[in-house]
Amino acid sequence: MMRKAKVKTPNLAIELAGISLKNPVIVASGTFGYGEEYAELVDLNSLGAIVAKTITLKSRPGNEPPRIVETASGVLNSIGLQNVGVDAFINEKLPFLRKYDVPIIASIAGETTEEYVRLAKALREAEISGLELNLSCPNVKYKRRLMFAQDSGATHRAVSSVRKATGLPLLVKLSPNVTDIASIARVCEEAGADGVSLTNTFTGMAIDVENRKPILRRITGGLSGPAIKPIALRMVYEVHKAVEIPIIGMGGIMTAGDALEFIIAGAKAVAIGTGNFVDPLTPIKVIDGIKEYLKKNKIKDIKSIVGSLQCPKS
Ligand SMILES: Cc1cc2nc3c(=O)[nH]c(=O)nc-3n(C[C@H](O)[C@H](O)[C@H](O)COP(=O)(O)O)c2cc1C
Repeated sequence: MMRKAKVKTPNLAIELAGISLKNPVIVASGTFGYGEEYAELVDLNSLGAIVAKTITLKSRPGNEPPRIVETASGVLNSIGLQNVGVDAFINEKLPFLRKYDVPIIASIAGETTEEYVRLAKALREAEISGLELNLSCPNVKYKRRLMFAQDSGATHRAVSSVRKATGLPLLVKLSPNVTDIASIARVCEEAGADGVSLTNTFTGMAIDVENRKPILRRITGGLSGPAIKPIALRMVYEVHKAVEIPIIGMGGIMTAGDALEFIIAGAKAVAIGTGNFVDPLTPIKVIDGIKEYLKKNKIKDIKSIVGSLQCPKS
């Protein structure tokens, strides 16, 4: 039998929806601010990409506290899209991020399709690498009853309208709070999305039994962290079978092993969210761990294991 050659430096670079990444490890929207606070702790140039905190047309103060609570193996948050607004993002936040050699993906959220289009147009000249449409924040009141990502018609309208408004690579952030996430991903693909990010947080709640009140001021919040990992992973597996466009997988990734599970299930890239709060070096440790895994298993290129899950024949 031929012995496989030693792999000294495996290739971690990928192309994601038209964006070149040094490695497949991204930091997730809302968990890395606009990069400034983390830059002292993490070498931003080492990251695959940065997805900035979701921005809206006008700045938002977010919801009233308490808006974050720890749960078993997870975190419930109801921050409510606190952000500086698109103009301040372009003028005050992007100049800092642009100093680094890392793709910047802006995340946007609107209350209407028209607002999504206005945001996409405002960012056309902003020298960013891509756009992520956050159609799935569970912590804001929408004029409509459901989030965009819970309604295939609204998802199609938002994605196709933004598609017409921008030439930037277009990712769509999906909600896990649906019956069939694969069908929503298919709608995104049909409407012209270049990739899908999943998942956002799972709606949940926590109760203080002594006074029988919800712990979060807004009653419900979004659950993230290791508690959601098996469910998010199953969703990536289902979406991978349903669409051709690349997937950014996320939900409870804390280690290289977690990230590799998502990649093997079909994610071309992975994102770290809550892991950044536990240890800001989580993304770096995940990158190093993936490298070690590839070396150990004599795999030359990360791309060769994307979606490589071997299921027993039924
Ligand atoms: C405190 C907090 C704030 C978040 N804010 C945003 C946001 O602004 N936009 C967004 O698309 N996702 C937001 N998310 C969701 C994360 O990007 C990610 O999809 C989710 O937390 C699952 O990944 P994780 O388990 O690694 O945290 C937020 C999550 C947390 C915990």
